[in-house]
Amino acid sequence: MIERERVIQLLDKYIKTEWLRLHMRESEAIMRALAEELGEDEQLWGLSGLLHDIDYDWVDKDPKRHVIEFDKIMEMEGLRIGEDIPQEMYHAIKAHYEEHPDIKQKRESRLDFALSASETLSGFLVACALVQPDKKISSVGVNSVMKKFKKKDFAKAVNRELIYDIEKTGISLERFIEIALGSMNEISNEIGL
Ligand SMILES: [Fe+2]
Repeated sequence: MIERERVIQLLDKYIKTEWLRLHMRESEAIMRALAEELGEDEQLWGLSGLLHDIDYDWVDKDPKRHVIEFDKIMEMEGLRIGEDIPQEMYHAIKAHYEEHPDIKQKRESRLDFALSASETLSGFLVACALVQPDKKISSVGVNSVMKKFKKKDFAKAVNRELIYDIEKTGISLERFIEIALGSMNEISNEIGL
C-alpha cells in the first residue's frame, strides 16, 4: 500500500486550493478515528480519506470529470490499482461519487459508507464552526450538529443522507459526530478552526 509520505507528495503536486487540501486532511483525521473505533485498518481508512479528492483541482472542479480522472493520475504517477492503491481503497474512492453515471462502483462496504459519510460530515462541521461566535470547532457540540441537520436552510448543499448512512457501518450518528469533532479538534490549528 502507498505510504502516507507519498500521498502528501501527491497533494503537494495536484492540490492547489487550500480549502480542498484541508478538506482532505479533515477526512483523513475522521477516517482514522473511525477505523480505530470500528477495529478497522487505520492506515487504509486514513489514506482513503487523504487521497479521495486528489483529481478535483486537476479537473478544474468539473463534476463531469471528478473521480473519473483519478485513474489517470494514478497511471501518470506509476501507482498500481490493487497494489499501491488497495482494491478496497480504490472502490471507496470511486464509490464516494457513485452519483456519476459513468462510475460503476456503488457504496457497499463499511469503508465505502465511512468515506462518503466522513468527507461529507467534515464540510458540515466546518460550516457549524464558522457560525460560532469564536469560529472554533471546539465550540461545536454534538446536539447542535444534530439540530442543524434538520434545518434545511443551513449548509443546504450538504447531503445529509450520506452522513446518516454511517449507521450502515454499525455506529450511531451521535457517536460518529462525537468522533469526528474529536478528530477535527486534534488538528484545529492546522485547519484554522
Ligand atoms: Fe471530498
